Amino acid sequence: MDVSVEYIPVILNAIRVDTIVGCDLYLQNHINKEIRYVLYCSGTNVVKSDKIEDLQRHRVKTLFIRKEDQKIYLKYVESNLKYIINDNRVDIKEKAYIVYNVAKNIMSDIFEDPRSGEHVERSKGWVSNTIDLIIRSKGSFSGMMSMISYDYYTYTHSVNVSVLGLLFAKYLSFDGGEMQSFGTGLLLHDVGKTQIDPEIINKKERLNDEEFARIKMHVDLGADILKQTGGIDSMSFIPIMQHHEKHNGEGYPNGLKGDAIHKHGKIAGIIDVYDALTTKRTYSDARKPFAALKIMNDEMTGSFDDKYFKDFILFLGSGGERQYQKTKKKFPMSG
Ligand SMILES: [Fe+2]
Repeated sequence: MDVSVEYIPVILNAIRVDTIVGCDLYLQNHINKEIRYVLYCSGTNVVKSDKIEDLQRHRVKTLFIRKEDQKIYLKYVESNLKYIINDNRVDIKEKAYIVYNVAKNIMSDIFEDPRSGEHVERSKGWVSNTIDLIIRSKGSFSGMMSMISYDYYTYTHSVNVSVLGLLFAKYLSFDGGEMQSFGTGLLLHDVGKTQIDPEIINKKERLNDEEFARIKMHVDLGADILKQTGGIDSMSFIPIMQHHEKHNGEGYPNGLKGDAIHKHGKIAGIIDVYDALTTKRTYSDARKPFAALKIMNDEMTGSFDDKYFKDFILFLGSGGERQYQKTKKKFPMSG
């Protein structure tokens, strides 16, 4: 066995019977305190039901793949996402893990090639499946929230923002179509950052005026790319165009004020800042939810729409479930 090969675990329940995974699947064996990986199913073979059932009988829950095959594997899982989400044998934590990793893979592809129409279609497909999961499954709030990545990359931030936004949209009783446009826009909200010098994006020190002016351009640049690529509905452009607008009119790119900002833009702005504060950045550590909300409340006064900011606090505190009737007593801030 080649010791230089790194193996990573994958969930057995993500493998569908009678499909071809496209990469080799391994079993982990412990022999004399040594870990060995044994080929279980070749990537070019159809996974037969007796193979899966045999593993289930032996209570095996995890298979392994070579790390270098991760993208092949995630693309395979992405193509089966609908079935996995509707599979009762897969628990919510496994589903959340799978959904989150598929999204990270789609986003890393988008940030490599933001003009690809195929990637845009994949984003929309992911949003649609995630809405299904969020609406149908009990425990989707805690399941999805536990997956939120606290290490910041532009693409993990995009996934976090979209997941948080979709959970919050459910809490606010958005209908399915509204959730679809909103979630897609959130996932793609920072695509324009691919056009900005990474040295500016990752700079630890304070940005000078010229650099900040350059950063601000990511909003229009992202919208331009996606307009050219096509396939995105007009509502999805709202979170993209308005996530840096501020309630007091001091945001960008258009300095929109108050209700000139669409509710999807207002919510996008709140979630964008909240996620940035709660993830580890080159210039600051990840903050706990309460600390992040306190900064937003005390140090960013006037930036956010009051009603949606309060709703967002209630949403986080309630585990994603709206607490009718009791709300006023339990949460005095609901006003
Ligand atoms: Fe942004």
